[in-house]
Amino acid sequence: MNNEDFLEAYLSDRQKIVDEALQRYLPDENNVPHDLHNAMHYSVFAGGKRIRPILCLAALEACGGDMAPAMPVACALELIHTYSLIHDDLPAMDNDDFRRGKPTSHKVFGEALAILAGDALLTEAFVLLSRAEKVRLAAEKRLAVRLAAEKRLAVIQEIASAAGAAGMVGGQALDIRTGKNSPDFEGLQCIHRLKTGALIAVAVKAGAILAGANDDKIQSLNVYGSHLGIAFQISDDILNVEGDSRLMGKQTGSDVASGKVTYPTLLGLENAKAKLVEHVESAVAAIEAFDSRALPLRVIARYIMERKS
Ligand code: IPE
Ligand code: IPE
Ligand code: MG
Ligand code: MG
Repeated sequence: MNNEDFLEAYLSDRQKIVDEALQRYLPDENNVPHDLHNAMHYSVFAGGKRIRPILCLAALEACGGDMAPAMPVACALELIHTYSLIHDDLPAMDNDDFRRGKPTSHKVFGEALAILAGDALLTEAFVLLSRAEKVRLAAEKRLAVRLAAEKRLAVIQEIASAAGAAGMVGGQALDIRTGKNSPDFEGLQCIHRLKTGALIAVAVKAGAILAGANDDKIQSLNVYGSHLGIAFQISDDILNVEGDSRLMGKQTGSDVASGKVTYPTLLGLENAKAKLVEHVESAVAAIEAFDSRALPLRVIARYIMERKS
């Protein structure tokens, strides 16, 4: 199987596993308040790529970890990401009408419910993250269970920091100001690192922590995830200029129309593409020492460079 076929099969297999787990973990759509649960399901199952949970699982796999106990963490990352998209699309932020090929949450449910659906998804993520595993407390296993609890706490702390004011939310706050005070290159890179890079980087790091990887491996994967996170937002900027809105499921051309400063508007399309390649290459280089179990991480990095949606 060549790398392209492998990637396609890998992504569709993992998307299926993540979707099944999300169906299990998300509170039932028929719960009351019905409109709130309906709105939560609407956005989560509108068809995202699931790249953050997939990266978490791929990092885990690269470190020889077991996938099943990590599923709540992988799914929590997707809930946080989905909440961020609902809020990002609101009139007070990017004011977008389409997301994941469907009308945005506020277009369907109204602004108040869209805000609340986002709030609820963020909160549910922490319900999932803190969920105790049902492990039988056989005497010889007590130490292992305690370590699992410590790992879980470390992961919760990492994800909470990456999603909050020091990470994604902070990046979004900087991002909404960019129309007014145009950032220079350093400023723009900082926005990308925070608004998008932080959650992607922590997805990878969480996978490594859950697998029980040593500090060297966690550090290398953190470098991989940090470069990949910035690369992901650069490619999002490039696709906003030259992507196909039908494939992407969201409007294109909006950055130029709103005068937003992005990699292509600041550096030009060709230089933005060169930066994308640089970050992807740095990501791949960071995990050079990993064995063939890191193949998914390597092919995902190439995919981020070439993706069309
Ligand atoms: C879009 O993320 C928003 C960014 C952070 C760039 P994705 O491109 O991962 O969106 P979905 O989850 O596939 O819809
Ligand atoms: C989205 O950034 C970042 C987050 C949602 C945290 P953008 O606003 O650039 O992404 P799209 O293009 O709307 O998906
Ligand atoms: Mg935005
Ligand atoms: Mg947006």
